Amino acid sequence: MEEAFMASVDRLKKDYPWIKTPLVVGAPMRLIALAPLALEISRAGGIGFIGAGTDVSTLEDELLHAQRLLSSNPMPSYGLQTNTSSTSTLPLGIGFINWGAATVPSLDLIRRFRPAAVWFFAPHDIENLQYWTTETRSVAPSTRVWVQVGCVTDAAEVVRHCHPDVLVVQGTDAGGHGLVQGAGIVSLMPEVSDAVEEMVRKGVIEEEQAPALLAAGGIAEGRGAAAVLALGAAGVVMGTRFLASWEANVAKGYRDEVVRAKDGGQSTVRTKVYDTLRGTTGWAEGYNARGLINKSFVDAAEGMGEEENKRLYQEELAKGNRGWGADGRLTTYAGAAVGLVREIKPAAEIVVEVREGARRVIELVRRRVREIEL
Ligand SMILES: Cc1cc2nc3c(=O)[nH]c(=O)nc-3n(C[C@H](O)[C@H](O)[C@H](O)COP(=O)(O)O)c2cc1C
Repeated sequence: MEEAFMASVDRLKKDYPWIKTPLVVGAPMRLIALAPLALEISRAGGIGFIGAGTDVSTLEDELLHAQRLLSSNPMPSYGLQTNTSSTSTLPLGIGFINWGAATVPSLDLIRRFRPAAVWFFAPHDIENLQYWTTETRSVAPSTRVWVQVGCVTDAAEVVRHCHPDVLVVQGTDAGGHGLVQGAGIVSLMPEVSDAVEEMVRKGVIEEEQAPALLAAGGIAEGRGAAAVLALGAAGVVMGTRFLASWEANVAKGYRDEVVRAKDGGQSTVRTKVYDTLRGTTGWAEGYNARGLINKSFVDAAEGMGEEENKRLYQEELAKGNRGWGADGRLTTYAGAAVGLVREIKPAAEIVVEVREGARRVIELVRRRVREIEL
């Protein structure tokens, strides 16, 4: 088991030569994680993702923006700065939401820009994911394939049929979309890890096909990061924490709410209400999303009809930053760890703080164990 874990960390270091461990990844967040955020995360030794999501119409501009940022301010820890050679990749990833992203333009952009990784999420069926995976590997062999899953069954199916390089295991505390019915990362991660190990033991997949496992959902600082390393993760993925970075493309009202909110288990909820109001309704039945509780949710829970709630939501849009908050109606997707997000910082500082925080916690635990033994 330890050998397989070390092999997956070695593979990550080889595939993304600029990273520092424990690895900190910035989740692709549609319309929020754009080139500036993704690149700052990578520059700090993490891996940043641009969130293309379901709509790839602005993705080319975003990738050109990333190339311009890289040529004006090169990344010293990364050899080639732009993908002008046939082997180099862009030192960031692109996240697609499979049910909405159009395959032909997406694959064309993957071929042209060669991101270091692509991230797939929420396909309506495994055949769709197999198609994206196979085609990506054919158009951009140096681009690695990541898939985010939220349960053991999906993890096993994806590993068996798609052989992703990285499996992002998303616990139910995660902000944004995920499975309606899910488990927290503390039980989900080791069960997925055991399932993958068993697949290798039984010869369902070759040892080299076992993906690196990364943990997502409810991790916002060094303690959470250290904990998931103990559960079998090779690194962490954070979305909510990066909402409170200066580089995230969010309105002030949204960011202020993320910093203000406390007690995430009480102040957030998993629901389909926000999707209904915003018209983002292509998600498979088994998905909903976690966000801060606001007036739209409370009114829906108390029986307000969809049309009236939508009308009030539209009116609220005109209020700008005042439309967010517990008494507002604008959607604030955020995870259960939102109470641990207490200030706005540059994304690079967040990466370093979480990485070094995890190291410190692991050292502290070592010391505590030694003291207990004495
Ligand atoms: C505002 C927001 C938007 C998100 N958008 C996406 C997305 O476009 N694609 C995706 O795969 N995951 C998306 N996610 C989920 C993340 O991939 C990840 O699972 C989650 O952020 C991890 O939990 P955390 O928020 O507690 O860090 C989003 C999360 C948030 C908070």
